[in-house]
Amino acid sequence: MNSGFEFLDKSELQNKTSYKWRQNSESTIPLTVAEMDYNVAPAIRAGLHSMVESSDMGYLGKFPELQSAFAGFARRHWNWEINNAKVRIANDLGAAVSEVLHIISKPGERVLINSPVTNFADWLKEVGRVPHDVPLINQGMQYSLDIVGIEHAFQDGVRIYLLCNPHSPVGANFPRQDLLRIAELADKYGAIVLSDEIHGPLVYQEFTPFLTLGPAAKKVGIAFSSASKAFNIAGLKCAVCLTENLTLDSQLDLIPESARHRASLFGAIATAIAFTDCDDWLADAKSVMQSNAHLLKDLLEQHFPSAHYRVPDFAYLAWIDFTESWMARFKEADVALLAGPAYGKGLGTFARLNFATSPEILKEAFSRIK
Ligand SMILES: Cc1ncc(COP(=O)(O)O)c(C=O)c1O
Repeated sequence: MNSGFEFLDKSELQNKTSYKWRQNSESTIPLTVAEMDYNVAPAIRAGLHSMVESSDMGYLGKFPELQSAFAGFARRHWNWEINNAKVRIANDLGAAVSEVLHIISKPGERVLINSPVTNFADWLKEVGRVPHDVPLINQGMQYSLDIVGIEHAFQDGVRIYLLCNPHSPVGANFPRQDLLRIAELADKYGAIVLSDEIHGPLVYQEFTPFLTLGPAAKKVGIAFSSASKAFNIAGLKCAVCLTENLTLDSQLDLIPESARHRASLFGAIATAIAFTDCDDWLADAKSVMQSNAHLLKDLLEQHFPSAHYRVPDFAYLAWIDFTESWMARFKEADVALLAGPAYGKGLGTFARLNFATSPEILKEAFSRIK
């Protein structure tokens, strides 16, 4: 592949020191935390090498390259025109959401979420806010927003909505009209929508950033993004957020100066390169992962005929309802997945499976299942 995309082989993977590879024993095939079993794009590695060689390892300060890189990516991929100066830098997406919640909400305040959803309940616990769950509607693994339930929550006084767009772990890229409806309702009830768009660059078809939905969305929305998921650089610690509402934007100036220095310089340079020079690598990675998403469907049909799974709208996390207890068979096979209950109540037969690996490793994982 001309982009420099490469699979890492098993010995290279086992030598990694990251969470995914340290969490289990060496014999385990981890299809768990959101890291890819691929090389990091050559341009990112070269940028980091050059920083190491020049001992450029100080605190992160102003980084206009990152602001313009994110704006460039948004323009090329989503036709979204951003004022670079409004792009704020944080050390990861969870931290960015926490910092914003400290400013725009009060301790103990309810925050709307849609289970099953990644991480959000933990982030809210960390800042002393309370999840107000309006679960997604599941029709045969096709998940959608419960617009009526969301309006009821706004009528009931909930004023902050933490939206996962696109939605993980269920793999849903919501239709534009549903997102538009959310923006209109938030505007009607005076709510603020925090849109976590970390998986946006990984959507196979057309992704809709919340702030591209028109005047209501621009008034109520704060968008969060990062290169960490799409370019496999989560350990480098960098995310961005922005709003086009000038009042909200000036409120965010209250985020303490100290929080702004917590992102890493390595993260900022890697993110700037990812969003500028790595479109081809991302396209190759997505095509491999999309093919794995279909391979997984075949493997599930062979080994778990009663499982329910829909190919996700974006790489690379599969949401599977095994419809029966699955854990013992995977444990016996020494293959690790993430268990459903971490994402919401009543999800004991569900699991999240990370298929950002090679087709060979994915097949090997299933060949071990008895
Ligand atoms: C939807 C979503 N948001 C945020 C994160 C975490 O991002 P970060 O490591 O930048 O906090 C994840 C990771 O699993 C995720 O799936």
